[in-house]
Amino acid sequence: MKNDFFTYQAQTTPYPLGLEVSHAKGSYIYDVDGHAHLDFVAGVSACSLGHCHPKVVSAIEAQLKKYMHVMVYGEYVQRPAVAYTKMLASQLPKNLQTTYLVNSGTEAMEGAIKLARRVTGRSQLIAAKKAYHGNTMGSLSLMGYEERKSAFRPLIPDVSFITFNTIPDLGQITEKTAAVVLETIQGGAGFVMPEDGYLSQVRKRCDQVGALLILDEIQPGFGRTGTLFAFEHFNCVPDILVIGKGMASGLPVGAFVASKEHMQSLQERPKLGHITTFGGNPVIAAACLATLTELTQSQLIADVQIKEKQFRKLLVHPLIKEIRGKGLLLALLFENTDVANYLVLEAAKQKLILFWLLFEPKAVRISPPLTILEEEISKGCQLILAILEAYPKRDVN
Ligand SMILES: Cc1ncc(COP(=O)(O)O)c(C=O)c1O
Repeated sequence: MKNDFFTYQAQTTPYPLGLEVSHAKGSYIYDVDGHAHLDFVAGVSACSLGHCHPKVVSAIEAQLKKYMHVMVYGEYVQRPAVAYTKMLASQLPKNLQTTYLVNSGTEAMEGAIKLARRVTGRSQLIAAKKAYHGNTMGSLSLMGYEERKSAFRPLIPDVSFITFNTIPDLGQITEKTAAVVLETIQGGAGFVMPEDGYLSQVRKRCDQVGALLILDEIQPGFGRTGTLFAFEHFNCVPDILVIGKGMASGLPVGAFVASKEHMQSLQERPKLGHITTFGGNPVIAAACLATLTELTQSQLIADVQIKEKQFRKLLVHPLIKEIRGKGLLLALLFENTDVANYLVLEAAKQKLILFWLLFEPKAVRISPPLTILEEEISKGCQLILAILEAYPKRDVN
């Protein structure tokens, strides 16, 4: 299997982790040799309810037996998508009541950019340095990391960058700006939190000049920071909310949410302003509905803060310089990349799943399922401490 993986399946790096998966359940992924790997990554924040949550599985099974795909997005009335968008609206502020369902986070960002240009009649987009919004051409154009995008130029024009958490840069937002696009918490940069008042200042500046504010909650959304959406912590409501990842507990999905008035601009002049075959797919929408129902009717979100405290209390070690992030979206920061690499690779050998962050090589991600148990957190943290204790000092950068 592994040979075929390298031979036939396109690779993203020359050195994938290559775990050969048999099945997954709760907080564990099982390999083909029967070993259980404790998952502190949750498919990069996607498996919010852990692996194969029984309520999600049974919602998927029930829908599979009824119908899977009957028409392109938006033509037929399909109960799972309607019930889901209605329930999502009940959880969001009154300017975020209409949801466009798509297939991935990056596609949701593409839709959001198009919507902002359409609503404002302006073209300029302002994103943040070190931002990550996905890998298709529009989202890639908003990536604030030249090294990863220069090989793919030319990208879409009229995109400028500001520095996250830097108020004087907000002067760059003007009457020419269609939208400011920010991650509520910068993910790839190493879970960088917005400083007090920053997002509300961005909101204020957007209002002054008539620009829309797009917040990318693809990582922190769906309970990961202890509220359903992270913007709830920061007194700042976006005009367009972009979501994905944890939304369907592990199935591919994304969405952008806006007011009905704004969203209507995608249906005329031209008609079919944004279309998709599989967006709103009923099986995936059923998984979304089961996920949101479980998140809102259980203690899971309320418990996030308690679990964060447990991580922060246990993960004290001289090599850990800082723990960034919020809730179960945490990054351990080390002095150099060698410790970070050593920890991820050594943990993999010892059957604890950790992972890197895109643009911060000194960081290691901890973003477990929200369903992770206290004893699983303890077990994983003890292992991290033991691995760090055994770190062989060597001459590095
Ligand atoms: C903040 C953020 N935006 C957008 C994306 C892109 O989502 P997807 O990989 O589903 O296209 C990601 C994925 O990691 C992300 O973390």
